[in-house]
Amino acid sequence: MNQSVPRSTWTSHWAFILVTIGSAVGLGNIWKFSYLAGANGGSAFVLVYLCFVALIGLPLLMAEILIGRRGRGNPVSAMLKTAEESGNSPWWALLGWVGALGALAILSFYSVVAGWIADYLCQAVMGVQVDTPEKAAQGFSNLKDNPLRTGFWHTVFMVLTVWVVARGVVRGIETANKIMMPLLFLILLLLAVWGAKVGNMPMAMHFMFDFKAEALTPGVVLAAMGHAFFSLSLGMGAIMAYGSYLDRETSIGSTSLWVVAANVVIGLLSGMAIFSLTFGYGLSPSSGPGLILQALPLAFSHMPFGQIFSVLFFLFVLFAAWTSSISLMEPFVSWLTERCGMRRARAAWGTCVPVWLLGLAVCLSSSSVAGFKVFGYDLLDGLDQLTNRIMMPLSGLAIAVYVGWMLGRPIVADEAGLKGRAFSLWFNVLRYIVPIGITLVFLGLLIGLDKSIA
Ligand code: TRP
Repeated sequence: MNQSVPRSTWTSHWAFILVTIGSAVGLGNIWKFSYLAGANGGSAFVLVYLCFVALIGLPLLMAEILIGRRGRGNPVSAMLKTAEESGNSPWWALLGWVGALGALAILSFYSVVAGWIADYLCQAVMGVQVDTPEKAAQGFSNLKDNPLRTGFWHTVFMVLTVWVVARGVVRGIETANKIMMPLLFLILLLLAVWGAKVGNMPMAMHFMFDFKAEALTPGVVLAAMGHAFFSLSLGMGAIMAYGSYLDRETSIGSTSLWVVAANVVIGLLSGMAIFSLTFGYGLSPSSGPGLILQALPLAFSHMPFGQIFSVLFFLFVLFAAWTSSISLMEPFVSWLTERCGMRRARAAWGTCVPVWLLGLAVCLSSSSVAGFKVFGYDLLDGLDQLTNRIMMPLSGLAIAVYVGWMLGRPIVADEAGLKGRAFSLWFNVLRYIVPIGITLVFLGLLIGLDKSIA
């Protein structure tokens, strides 16, 4: 460990809350949440998702922050140090590796999708009209089929991400979040109010919140759990890395509550805006990954002030993606700077190269020009499924076991800073409910209960 590099600390606990919300709120909450909810029966998915967020997401978020702060280092060294302190095997550091590398795998396709958003933002600024469903579908497949265009925007987005990460924890990551997150929230409020006015909000609300037991299939439950992990940035070391810059005075419990609440509110609000417009303009909510890229531009081109709102919408999504992608890069970059003594800028640019190349392969794989498949999946789908359904739940399980059973109660109680019943409640949920819940859902996945998912 290179001791000569002083460790940064967020400038306040609000800064930590903000950057963690920035990491959590991303393409997941907007692009993925809306299309998954749309394709998985709306409310069934939404309600199960909310349960998983409360029962599994919140306790795990606290556990990840706790490891990062106790270990005061990148995910690999935080795992090593806490394992050493508690007399556990150094092999637990593998979990840090899985996280740091998994996060880069996510970043490779995340950046491609963020690139699509940047392309749509550019089209919105130029006033491209998409007034028929055929044009909307054509527009999306023209984009995906052109690896030069998707590759270009993927490159632009990677450069933006690296630029922030290279500037450092406070000057780069914290500043970027302080500028973008308030703007993002403001734009979202505008969109939701306007969406309610010109769209069909009652129908959106019914679709998202009316409980329909028959829509509750094992596939929906699996998709909802995967999404709870993804939307809270869990299991991939990102939260550990951010937690490692948190001062010791801040309460992990209340901080995590803020993050979870903001993540849920922003997700639901954007879902309401998106579905209100989708229904208001007679479009289908179940069109899959193209939902916000096909249905919404169509709605925008028919609604009053549509161009302004489409620019604002895609800007909103781009900001959300940007504040998340920097958190996907941080675990590995902090490992390079701390473990190998590399300068931050060099570490960030160096990390970018393999991720960028993998992203280019994703662009090629999704295009019909050069489309290739890996094990029957196109690369985007394959990487998404691998990380979301396997790596994140498994590493979430391992984190729960580690903090719940291996670290030992004295260390955990000392670091968590929760008192009395609040501590017991959290600790027991982490020890029993989280591992059992993840295992059950995971077994369901292994025996193929998820075949019903489109
Ligand atoms: N939570 C982000 C989203 O919803 C994605 C993300 C950022 C992420 N960092 C992560 C997912 C770390 C898993 C792990 O878009």
